[in-house]
Amino acid sequence: MSGGSLVRFLVPREHSPGEKRVAATPETVRRLLGKGVTVKVQQGAGAAAGFRDDDFLAVGAELGPEEGLPWEEADGVLCVQAPPAASLQRLRPGALLVGLLSPYGATDLAETLNGREASAIALELLPRISRAQSMDVLSSQANIAGYKAVVLAAAALDRYVPMLMTAAGTIQPSRVLVLGAGVAGLQAIATAKRLGGVVYVSDVRAAAKEQVESLGGRFIDPPELEDKPAEEGGYAKAASEAFLAAQRQQLADQLALADMVICTALVPGRTAPRLISEEMLDGMRPGAVVVDLAVAQGGNCFGTVAGQTVERRGVQLIGADALPSSVPNHASALYARNVAALIEHLLVEEGLRLDPEDPILAGCLLTHGGTCRREDVVYPNGSPNGGS
Ligand code: NAI
Repeated sequence: MSGGSLVRFLVPREHSPGEKRVAATPETVRRLLGKGVTVKVQQGAGAAAGFRDDDFLAVGAELGPEEGLPWEEADGVLCVQAPPAASLQRLRPGALLVGLLSPYGATDLAETLNGREASAIALELLPRISRAQSMDVLSSQANIAGYKAVVLAAAALDRYVPMLMTAAGTIQPSRVLVLGAGVAGLQAIATAKRLGGVVYVSDVRAAAKEQVESLGGRFIDPPELEDKPAEEGGYAKAASEAFLAAQRQQLADQLALADMVICTALVPGRTAPRLISEEMLDGMRPGAVVVDLAVAQGGNCFGTVAGQTVERRGVQLIGADALPSSVPNHASALYARNVAALIEHLLVEEGLRLDPEDPILAGCLLTHGGTCRREDVVYPNGSPNGGS
């Protein structure tokens, strides 16, 4: 990294269509500048998230030009999604890229970065350990997705969510079904409860039951089958087709009663479990709403399409693939704090220190010194020659 402690960070404008978040905010720029680094924010980088260029200037950031950003000067690039290859090809050897780099199968990205001898941290792969909690973008962003999914569903629903006692009689509360009780699912439960819904929840991890119940949700115990999916590091492993078939059978009755279904069930690095079949949708009442947060991983629900709302026999199927970006101000505020916490962890007197043996970095350092550190992720078959 750069000589002395003056590390130069670059915050480019996001280029992925629809991405409104930004990887640094005036708050985190101020925090990083306090560590003796410099931060150059590309003009307009925070605009879609409600952060003005003047706000960045006011805390001491430099502004980078709209065109011809000096990528070759950066020691560290802070982004939300990976910048285009043409920009990465201008990185200097030893530069660090930090972002949500979609590392599963990211062969081209890894090759570009290795070609530049650049290092990259894929934030999706940060370990879920206590020391890394303040850096955990998956949690901060999933929380937002869980909240927004319920808000979207409530807006699309043909009913009230809470119970209401009116002069015209009593309205029963809406029934909400949440599939998957990870971070997004738990926030969906909490949000639906705050709105007054009656919330039922399915998950396959034993630990989920207590968490669901502490939020006032009613846990649906998974089918008692011998091949119940194992757990590893707090994550559910992929379920067998027989288990999923039993789970679908169990959920069919729940779906028939549900007004709102929030799908968040995921298995890291795998296709999302298919929990709602076409026949199960047929059993839902017209006017009900399904929001599928797993749509980008193949979807928990039959028929959901990423970024679209599809109506099927009166049931609205919302394929919600970019919810954190739809709450860009708070999503950026939290994301940027996560990134700043990680950078603070890496900053030492001499600059940025990337120790591949560091327990926080060991799993998420995708490329370093011209080689892939996570070939199992970048090359799904385990080797550069065996991957697709
Ligand atoms: P995720 O987004 O990978 O998956 C969502 C949920 O889907 C999980 O709860 C999973 O068990 C569930 N699921 C998988 N297959 C299913 C099926 N067939 N039916 C129903 N549900 C299914 O999960 P997330 O949010 O990343 O959380 C995973 C674990 O990590 C949890 O134990 C969570 O408490 C833990 N965690 C730990 C953190 C830390 O220590 N820093 C931070 C955030 C999460």
